Amino acid sequence: MIRLGIIGAGIMGAKVAQTVSGLPGVQLTAFADPVEERAGELTSRYGGTAFADHPELLASGLVDAVYVGLPHDGHLEACVTAARHGVHVLIDKPLCNTVAEADQIIAARDKADTVVMVGFSYRFRAEWREAQRLIASGVIGEPIFVTDVIAEAMPHTPPWYWDAGGGGILQLQAHHCLDRLPWLVGAPLTEVTCRTAGLPGEAASAATLTASFAGGAIAGITLSFGRTYQADVQSLMLVQGTAGELRIDQHRVLSVRSATMQRTESYADDDWLARQMSAFVQSCAGSRDAAPSAEDGRRAMVYAAAAAESARDGRTVSLR
Ligand SMILES: NC(=O)c1ccc[n+]([C@@H]2O[C@H](COP(=O)([O-])OP(=O)(O)OC[C@H]3O[C@@H](n4cnc5c(N)ncnc54)[C@H](O)[C@@H]3O)[C@@H](O)[C@H]2O)c1
Repeated sequence: MIRLGIIGAGIMGAKVAQTVSGLPGVQLTAFADPVEERAGELTSRYGGTAFADHPELLASGLVDAVYVGLPHDGHLEACVTAARHGVHVLIDKPLCNTVAEADQIIAARDKADTVVMVGFSYRFRAEWREAQRLIASGVIGEPIFVTDVIAEAMPHTPPWYWDAGGGGILQLQAHHCLDRLPWLVGAPLTEVTCRTAGLPGEAASAATLTASFAGGAIAGITLSFGRTYQADVQSLMLVQGTAGELRIDQHRVLSVRSATMQRTESYADDDWLARQMSAFVQSCAGSRDAAPSAEDGRRAMVYAAAAAESARDGRTVSLR
């Protein structure tokens, strides 16, 4: 039985606790959050011990593994402290704030011989897994062009999302795209160009990126987050290839059109978080096979840093 702690009892910490409470092979034993009611709410629902901060939780001896759902500024310290205590980590995306921080996390993990998995949630969604499998099998031929669009709007979000430590849209959303597209297409990025926009005094809430993949495919990534009003999410991921195309929309409908396949399937009922948490528990319990790994988190960090550099300097950043 893996004893799991939750560090950061906010939006994601609460969702993870609810999901884990229904899974076999894992027991919730500790929660840490400086907002007393948040950790208290989760201990009253699921049992376990509440802590005001994560260093005490990690030193308590009550956990074998933790889910880290902290503001991004806290990711490095939580991962390194967990390694010092021999505790496995599922860190929500982004892995951290800089490539140098990613290297510190990888070094701490290697020294401690612990698991570090990154919560790139799309890799656990059934429709994205199926899309990746279909592209790898050659159903749409060689990918030529990828469109990846996410438009959200919500007036009430944690304030840290939009400060320098949260990093705005490039840390919140771009990491998803910068991980899932190379994984989906099966090729790394070779260059990135980025422009950003947003409200005065905040980190950017909108970004448009163009990217090239090794092998020649190109991508257009459009991310925007309306900050002052509510509207439904719109998203579309489209891969057009030499022999067909594949799409995933915001309703989690996957459609494929090619000479050999005409398919439309809804994955709306799929529980990706249960799949992600089960994979982490299995990894901690024995396989040690962490995917997505800290190296995947570092790779997305390299791409996101290149996008931030391009937005600052106005130039295309080569990743070769
Ligand atoms: N995978 C996804 O789809 C997805 C979706 C949303 C957010 N996220 C990621 O999840 C992480 C958390 O985001 P969120 O939306 O849950 O944020 P949140 O603000 O709702 O939660 C963060 C929590 O951490 C707590 N906290 C702050 N300092 C702490 C400390 N020292 N020790 C313990 N707790 C502390 C805060 O009080 C807060 O309750 C971020 O990395 C974010 O990018 C992932």
